[in-house]
Amino acid sequence: MVDEDRRSPAAAVFDALGGEYEKAFAGSAAHRASLKWLLERLGPGSRVLDVGSGTGRPTAAALAGAGHRVLGVDVSPVMVEIASRQVPEGEFRCADIRRMPLEDGAFDAVCVYFALLQMSRAEQSGLVRRLVRALRPGGLLVLATVPLDVEDFDGVFMGQAVRVTSFAARDVSALARGAGLTVLREESVMFTPTHPDARPEPQLFLHCRRDGTEPAG
Ligand SMILES: C[S@@+](CC[C@H](N)C(=O)[O-])C[C@H]1O[C@@H](n2cnc3c(N)ncnc32)[C@H](O)[C@@H]1O
Repeated sequence: MVDEDRRSPAAAVFDALGGEYEKAFAGSAAHRASLKWLLERLGPGSRVLDVGSGTGRPTAAALAGAGHRVLGVDVSPVMVEIASRQVPEGEFRCADIRRMPLEDGAFDAVCVYFALLQMSRAEQSGLVRRLVRALRPGGLLVLATVPLDVEDFDGVFMGQAVRVTSFAARDVSALARGAGLTVLREESVMFTPTHPDARPEPQLFLHCRRDGTEPAG
């Protein structure tokens, strides 16, 4: 039983949405194209960290289905339960990635699909830097977000009250570069989730490689 008062805001929202989130975003061609980009570049049996792994679909399912070793981390117990059931060949942990220790160089790739939006800007920047250190040199990081210049914006997402913080697109790219990543491919799209309360949203997908320089700071 989860103590409702001690859940993080993100856990409360995504516990409530559960499998509805997957259905609403299943039509994303940009997400599928992003996974294709990653799968074409991973060596056999790569170790991949999926931050904010949600229901495990499409990301962990595609990676594990291609024979890669996936560790999914999500703060929502409901999402972790669904992902563990839907992608039994993956490993899923219920944890807040902001506080989870990460070993340097442990992963060949890291995915962060829409998992930063309930973090402060300082937390988002600090996390990306930590994720870069968790990549082996030359490892790949895919970062997708909603590139809006907003801080603590109170909105409604698929019927749930949410507080959103993000960066404008140019600042997301600058954050990635400042963290020691080379941006190899960048895609901006508008996407409307399949849900009665959904509105069109801008989405930015950055496909990056850890370069040779140490992250600053
Ligand atoms: C918008 S959903 C995206 C799910 C999946 N990445 C996808 O694209 O289908 C964001 C996910 O990130 C998780 N999340 C948000 N903040 C988190 C945190 N601090 N630590 C771990 N997971 C987090 C949420 O619980 C949710 O499942």
